[in-house]
This record gives sequence, C-alpha cells and structure tokens, in this order.
Amino acid sequence: MAMTTLFNNWDIVAKGWYLVTASKTISQATVQSFTICGQRIALFRGSDGQVRALDAYCPHMGTDLGIGSVDGNQVRCFFHHWAFDGNGQCQDIPCQDSIPSGAAVQAYATEEKYGFIWVYPDKVAPRPVAEFDELNGEALAVVADAPLTRQCHHHICMINGIDVQHLQTVHHLPVDLSLSLQQDGEQIDFTLSGELLDTNWRERLGRIILGPRYAYSMRYAHGCLGLLTMMQEVRWIPKLHMLYAYRPTEAGETFIQPIYVTKKRPGLWGWIVTHLLLWLTRLSYYVLRGEDGKIYDNIRFSTERLLPVDEPIARYVRYVNGLVPSRWSKRSPAVSLSEETLSSEPISSEKEALNGEHKQGRTTDFDLCASSAPQGDPEQVSKTRQRE
Ligand code: FES
Ligand SMILES: [Fe+2]
Repeated sequence: MAMTTLFNNWDIVAKGWYLVTASKTISQATVQSFTICGQRIALFRGSDGQVRALDAYCPHMGTDLGIGSVDGNQVRCFFHHWAFDGNGQCQDIPCQDSIPSGAAVQAYATEEKYGFIWVYPDKVAPRPVAEFDELNGEALAVVADAPLTRQCHHHICMINGIDVQHLQTVHHLPVDLSLSLQQDGEQIDFTLSGELLDTNWRERLGRIILGPRYAYSMRYAHGCLGLLTMMQEVRWIPKLHMLYAYRPTEAGETFIQPIYVTKKRPGLWGWIVTHLLLWLTRLSYYVLRGEDGKIYDNIRFSTERLLPVDEPIARYVRYVNGLVPSRWSKRSPAVSLSEETLSSEPISSEKEALNGEHKQGRTTDFDLCASSAPQGDPEQVSKTRQRE
C-alpha cells in the first residue's frame, strides 16, 4: 500500500500555531471570521481584551458567527442570537430557558505574539508560539512586512532556508557550511556554519567586513513557522532575527507572512540601533527573496535524487512526516504514522552521509517516504560538508 505522509500533502494539516491576522484587526468587542487552512474560524475579542477562536458556523442553522456581535466575553449569533463563550459552549438562547445538548462549537487555543493572532487546531496547545532563545523574555520591536504567496506547498517553501547548495548556485554566497541539528519534539533547529571563502575580491571583502566565519540557523516549529537567525559568528553586526509564518490557502498556494524582530533598546540611541537592525534584517531578506521566488512558483518538488549535501533537506522531510495531523485535515494519512515511521534510527544512506563517507558528486538515493522521523530525545548531529 502506498504510504501517505504529511510532507507536501495538501489534504493533511499538521498541528501547529497558524497565523491568522494582525492583533489590531480584532479590536475590543469585535468579531470576524477567517478561513485558515480550509477551516472557517470566528475570532472575537471580549470585554476582558482576550481573543477567542471558535469554529465559525453556528450549530443552530449554520450562520457564520463572524457576522454576529460580541456580548461581554461571548459571541452572539446574528440570526437568532444564541450566545457562545470562549469554550464554544452555548450559554444563552433568547427564546427559551434551556440549552439543548450539542449546542456548542469547537473552540481553539489562541495566542497573540509578534503583533499577530495565532490559532492552534485544538482547544489546548502543548506549547506557546515558538521564540528565539536569545530573545526569550526580552521586550521586542517587531515589524511585519507585506505578506506574499508562492505557488507550492509551504513545506516546500520552507526548505529554502536549509538548502545549502543554492546559497552558492543561486545567491552566490561565498560560504562553505557544515550542519548541526537539534530536535525537540515538533521543533527542530538547523545551524549551518563555516568559513567564508577568499578566492576573489568579493569574497575577500566579505571576510574583511564580517570576519572569517559565518553561521545562521533555522528553527522550524510544527512545520508551519520558520525562525531565522542570521549573522552568527561574525564581527561588528549582532544577530538578526526574522520569522516566516506559513499557511496553505484555499487556492492551493502558500501564504507567507515575514516578520522582523529584534530586542527593543531603551533611549534615543537604542531606538536608532533597534530600527537600524530591523532595516538590516529586511535588507538581507530582500536581497535573497527575489532570487528565490521563481524557483518556488514553478517547482514540482521531488526527493528522488537527493545528494549527501542535501542532508538537511532529507532530515527536514523526515521531521515534517513525524508531525501530528490535526482535525483540520481533509483526510487522515492512509497509513498512520507508525512505530516504524517514528523510529529515531537513521536510514542507512543517511548514516553514511552523517559519517561524511560520500564522495563529492556521488548520488545517493534517499528513500524519504519510507524513512524514519526523528522524535523523542533531542539529538545532536554534526557533519562537515563535502567541498564542491
Ligand atoms: S443560526 Fe445561529 S442562532 Fe440561529
Ligand atoms: Fe534562498
């Protein structure tokens, strides 16, 4: 039987935090509905200022609660004025005293972070929206850029941050990287670091400005949020941070919301530094974005012929296939994620790659669909990339 997996599968939505809209869109005592991952969700902000999320269609006759009104900390349906609390339970039916059983809708966990409202496809989320470790507990300055769409599944778009080869072939970045990897459940960190090359004037200029080494890391959370930390191990410039929030659209595209983040610094000089760093982050993103766009708008993605240098991508695919399908999925995987699928043992070709045994240019077939997805204990893997 063919294995149906989560990766690049439009019918399965992994559990995770999905960005809905800017916090300011839902002001106090307002309600509005959005289609998120194919699901109609009503968001409302109660008189206590808290945002709540419910399945949008009223259990009475199916009216969209998004056209209703907010009454205290409840949302009231426009049609016959049934009122629902943040748990989705009907609390009031104006024409009678009793509440029939089943007068309820599914409620979802919400969080407001980075200036946006996020929804999780369960009533309770196991962990909050992902953060950068070094910004933990800091007051943040956040700037959201204009959202964009790409013509492929978001699992494919997300690969861009860890595709080592394309840094040289597409972006002409003179850096030779090695990978370290750490996974903690549904969150995985890829850190790529190495020497800046010095074979021509452009590379030498880069070394003068940045120093001899460069590193960056991608943290993926739930396969729908990427946290990029740039400018690691360089001199002069502090680390730059940005997020990419992804979700599938009804039209079969990927919606991407870029968000720039840095620590908020006090005082006038602090304000200048803060905004200079946000601007630098945006600039770095713009330099790379244009070059990548036409790839992801025209790709028919395949994992048939991955090379050892593509190891981060193989690991990423395995990570995504280990995520948990949510109630928003159009169907369940034909074969659920089995014990075998969730094993932490690497496939044999990958073991060789991890040991750096592959010669340059030698093709390795990664049987990714049948591969195991690393889960459980955090793991550390290091490998020196083969020079091209
Ligand atoms: S349809 Fe919502 S109260 Fe009747
Ligand atoms: Fe790129």
